[in-house]
Amino acid sequence: MSEIKRVAVVTGSNRGLGNAIAQGLAREGVHVVVTARTEEAAKGAAEALRADGLSASGHQLDTADPASVARVMADVGYEHGRLDILINNAGVAIDRGQEASNVDMEKVRATLDINLMGVWRSCTAAIPEMKKNGYGRIVNVTSHMGTFGEMGLGSVSYRVSKAAVNALTCILAAELKNDGILVNAASPGKVNTRLAYGKATHTPEQAADTFVWLATLPADGPTGRLFFERQILDW
Ligand SMILES: NC(=O)c1ccc[n+]([C@@H]2O[C@H](COP(=O)([O-])OP(=O)(O)OC[C@H]3O[C@@H](n4cnc5c(N)ncnc54)[C@H](OP(=O)(O)O)[C@@H]3O)[C@@H](O)[C@H]2O)c1
Repeated sequence: MSEIKRVAVVTGSNRGLGNAIAQGLAREGVHVVVTARTEEAAKGAAEALRADGLSASGHQLDTADPASVARVMADVGYEHGRLDILINNAGVAIDRGQEASNVDMEKVRATLDINLMGVWRSCTAAIPEMKKNGYGRIVNVTSHMGTFGEMGLGSVSYRVSKAAVNALTCILAAELKNDGILVNAASPGKVNTRLAYGKATHTPEQAADTFVWLATLPADGPTGRLFFERQILDW
């Protein structure tokens, strides 16, 4: 019997951590749908993977646009007959130094729309495709800055968005555990990308490893948890 070729969607995979996760998954034999806010960026990043002999295609995806999200998940299900893995990586950090008591509410709205609602709407669009085959792996990219144990000042909407993603991860994991769908979140640490806060300690390739591991967990793998370098963090 031939082995199933898994199909993954990675949001925001034209650069940074998302691009490294896409490469890591493709090297594990997964077909990766590379996505980006523009069609051109998505196709270019997919072409770069194919030039390395990897299996990839490109698709426009703006996680702030519900129609775009719905279209990608439905197209992938139709074209490949399956959608096995969703990596919710796309994110923004646009509120450095902002205090909760004196915040620009437009930055809060924009941050939550991408970092929380973008993750949530990607999940609700992908889950029906996963249920069709009784298999799914959802991995949300979160941050230490959203854990209660490390809650601090500044970047308030970024922190709130990631704390909410952690909560959403727990709830979805509990809802979907009997459908063959495992849901987890991982924090990549300080990664050398455009978004990085302070001094980076990891390359995107090093950080990608945990996400690839979570995306390919066996059926009895851990679920509903927040991981950092494969260690479970306290919520
Ligand atoms: N770097 C770190 O130290 C660090 C630490 C903890 C967590 N994280 C998390 O890691 C994830 C990836 O960040 P990164 O460090 O790789 O940053 P990055 O290099 O700035 O990449 C962010 C990616 O998200 C995409 N994106 C932003 N808004 C989007 C939208 N509405 N729809 C689709 N794609 C969108 C960007 O696309 P464009 O090219 O179009 O802008 C880009 O591809 C984020 O969730 C971030 O919060 C990063």
